[in-house]
Amino acid sequence: MSELLKLSYQIDGDNFSSAGEASANVKKKLRQLGLDNEIIRRVAIAMYEGEINMVIHANGGTAEVTVSPKKIEILLSDSGPGIENVELAMQEGYSTAPDNVHALGFGAGMGLPNMKKYTDEMRIESTIGVGTTVYMMVNIK
Ligand SMILES: Nc1ncnc2c1ncn2[C@@H]1O[C@H](COP(=O)(O)OP(=O)(O)O)[C@@H](O)[C@H]1O
Ligand SMILES: [Mg+2]
Repeated sequence: MSELLKLSYQIDGDNFSSAGEASANVKKKLRQLGLDNEIIRRVAIAMYEGEINMVIHANGGTAEVTVSPKKIEILLSDSGPGIENVELAMQEGYSTAPDNVHALGFGAGMGLPNMKKYTDEMRIESTIGVGTTVYMMVNIK
């Protein structure tokens, strides 16, 4: 399918001051394309949560966003520690975030459940010691 837009970002690990910049930029670009506000909101929330996860849990990674006529796809890849039990990690409130991360207001354990909630498709592939990829897709009505 023809692409309208492809965006790539490098996400810094453990850098809380720049965390969220990539999803904010995606939001801006989607607005420029004139997409529906509700679609933009869902993509921005899902991507923000995935971006924060790479900062907190994986020492950063990359994000690729592809906009085509019928859908927006987000691919997040990191070379972090991996997720031992994806099913457990998907549960609301589950978090392995350390205290210093909680003190900054992150680590409520709602990121993955919200990524699932706000997208039409979400797939996680993770290997311990190798890394994690998260694929998310939002249909454009
Ligand atoms: N990219 C990732 N790499 C390694 N572990 C992750 C990653 N994303 C999520 N996790 C694990 O899944 C848990 C749940 O994630 P999430 O629902 O976003 O909660 P939170 O980030 O608030 O801890 C995290 O605490 C962490 O253990
Ligand atoms: Mg999270």
